[in-house]
Amino acid sequence: MYSTDVVTDAVLRTKNLNVYYGSNLAVRDVNLDIPEKKAIAFIGPSGCGKSTVLRCFNRMNDLVKSAKIEGKVTFRGQDIYGNSVNPIGLRSRIGMVFQKPNPFPKSIYENIAFGARLNGYIGDMDQLVEESLRKAVLWDDVKGKLKESGLALSGGQQQRLCIARAIAVKPEVVLMDEPCAALDPISTIKIEELIHELKTQYTIVIVTHNMQQASRVSDLTAFYNAEPTPKGGKVGYLVEYDRTEVIFQNPAQESTRDYVSGRFGANYLIFREKVPKFPPDHCHIQYFLSSKRSKSLTQQGF
Ligand SMILES: Nc1ncnc2c1ncn2[C@@H]1O[C@H](COP(=O)(O)OP(=O)(O)OP(=O)(O)O)[C@@H](O)[C@H]1O
Ligand SMILES: [Mg+2]
Repeated sequence: MYSTDVVTDAVLRTKNLNVYYGSNLAVRDVNLDIPEKKAIAFIGPSGCGKSTVLRCFNRMNDLVKSAKIEGKVTFRGQDIYGNSVNPIGLRSRIGMVFQKPNPFPKSIYENIAFGARLNGYIGDMDQLVEESLRKAVLWDDVKGKLKESGLALSGGQQQRLCIARAIAVKPEVVLMDEPCAALDPISTIKIEELIHELKTQYTIVIVTHNMQQASRVSDLTAFYNAEPTPKGGKVGYLVEYDRTEVIFQNPAQESTRDYVSGRFGANYLIFREKVPKFPPDHCHIQYFLSSKRSKSLTQQGF
């Protein structure tokens, strides 16, 4: 099991993290160290808290009114829930890519320039747009149509545009919540190749239900599961976290072995229920802005 002793260069660290929605404890006691410039996969059955933990890393759970955390999350040693931390600024350092590609209904160019401008970028915008699109391996597809709508691209291209948008603000960490869930196999492979490229410069944390994907792209894998609570609910927890080859070939826990080998039957799959929708519709704007500012931009058609 990876722990504080093993990961000496942790960029993100959770300590006894509990996350509640209202009075329901959704995930308990997560202790996890995320090392720099590696890809870390979160795997586990539906509802075990993967997205919940991921969203704690850049305070996206702040956008869910009922969400509350206990314990600590630190980024480069600083408590990210401390009073002096501005979540918008934090999200420019810890970016996020969602399950469903969510480009702004604006041009391809503006999709990149918008967030950069908001973050106070004053350099050469054309250069930044090109550089970000190149890093997301999208430049060749779109260089002749930068003024066309981002929504006119294919699903896979839209997701790469969202990745370009996330990296344009020069984050240190990129969180990805099932980034290939809505994509065809070819687009999925392109995103996986991209993750390989990106992790030379950024730390990537990716949630995936695809075991092959976790084993292909990640250096470390965290396996989560959920267990029933006396009240009839369920609570997620981190079962095991280790180098990906250990998780897939020689895990310490039997439940990990069963899950990664597909032998995860009724005993383990607690219950699949409807998970509340997240992010909210205008989350892609709220992600960059205070809710007041985002409301006004939403009214302007962003
Ligand atoms: N916005 C929310 N409001 C209330 N409860 C929530 C909310 N989001 C998640 N939960 C609950 O928290 C628990 C963990 O959910 P989470 O979405 O983190 O699971 P997950 O592992 O990402 O699942 P999946 O693989 O289906 O995406 C679930 O019981 C879920 O119902
Ligand atoms: Mg999820």
